[in-house]
Amino acid sequence: MPISESTVREVLSRIIEPELKKDIITLDLVREITIDVRSVHVHVEVSNPAMHSRKRMEEAVIFNLQQALGAEVKVLVKVTPLSGERADVRRVLPKVKHIVAIASGKGGVGKSTVTANLAVGLAQMGWKVGLVDADIHGPSVPIMFDVALEKPTTLEKDGKHWIVPVESHGVKVLSIGFFAAPDQAIAWRGPMASKALEQLFKDADWGELDIMLVDLPPGTGDIHLSLVQAIPLSGAVIVSTPQPVALADARKGVGLFRLPSVNVPVLGIVENMAWFTPAELPENKYYIFGRGGARSLADELKVPFLGEIPLVQSIREAGDVGRPAVLQEGTVASAAFNDLCEALRTRLAELENTPVQEAPVARV
Ligand SMILES: Nc1ncnc2c1ncn2[C@@H]1O[C@H](COP(=O)(O)OP(=O)(O)OP(=O)(O)O)[C@@H](O)[C@H]1O
Ligand SMILES: [Mg+2]
Repeated sequence: MPISESTVREVLSRIIEPELKKDIITLDLVREITIDVRSVHVHVEVSNPAMHSRKRMEEAVIFNLQQALGAEVKVLVKVTPLSGERADVRRVLPKVKHIVAIASGKGGVGKSTVTANLAVGLAQMGWKVGLVDADIHGPSVPIMFDVALEKPTTLEKDGKHWIVPVESHGVKVLSIGFFAAPDQAIAWRGPMASKALEQLFKDADWGELDIMLVDLPPGTGDIHLSLVQAIPLSGAVIVSTPQPVALADARKGVGLFRLPSVNVPVLGIVENMAWFTPAELPENKYYIFGRGGARSLADELKVPFLGEIPLVQSIREAGDVGRPAVLQEGTVASAAFNDLCEALRTRLAELENTPVQEAPVARV
């Protein structure tokens, strides 16, 4: 049977433009489709002109068309950057290479601690790092960076006022906590909270960044959904303890990012509080929340396992005094967080080379 244009369009409608977050047919990015007897030529535009982004689109088109039409069909793809006025649909934060959300589902499992240490660890490795504390329920990042009393300033540029992030330990930080008294934050619910959060991304002068980490509030509700849809995330990291209740919520966290309307790659799961180690007996490990639960969950959900962070008193103390534990060189804590930074860097590098595929069906 000859290949029809409607079949090709139907297949292409499963490919999501990774930065604009919609499929390439809806976005009208397919410029041309030419069909011969056993070959299909497609011309697609992408928002990010970088080579890796064009390569990913090419691979995604070939992969999806050959899967639907048969491997013997020759697929020729031309990918070009968005042209003319359409180039204006460039994403938010074009100078930020990767935006990564840190989520958990369950509260209190150590999202903010992991986020703060990843941010400082990556900055120590030479990356330009930004951190958005999106926790409207209880912003804790200002304390973890010892900037709780600071107020971000604004600057005027191109006729607009921009929020200037606060800098600490080599990381540019913005928190919803800078703009509201602790009791006020509670009243920020629903659309108002989402709007305020979006301003931290869109109305701030972030400049060029290698990575922006987003510390999400606990849960998987409406605020999460609107935020993860509004921000062009490269991926998400899920934090869990090995405890069954935390793992059940981590599963929901993975499910949120796998929703077809979200479709953000889960970069991996981190097991926090994997075991307790007393400072005086660093060889001793006590699995007080259970053992290896997050690793098994990662296997089951086919998500990479990024690493384990032990429960160490100094990690809590370091957070409380605003000097993340990764700064204490030669400790168990800094070694664990540095390994995690490396694992994340590896995953992001892999992501740049993986083809974009059709939206996965939420399996969780
Ligand atoms: N690996 C660890 N070792 C010791 N203490 C830890 C560790 N991870 C987190 N903590 C402590 O546990 C508490 C909760 O951590 P944190 O605030 O990072 O969790 P969270 O998931 O961000 O919480 P919330 O859901 O309230 O945002 C903090 O007091 C923190 O210092
Ligand atoms: Mg937190």
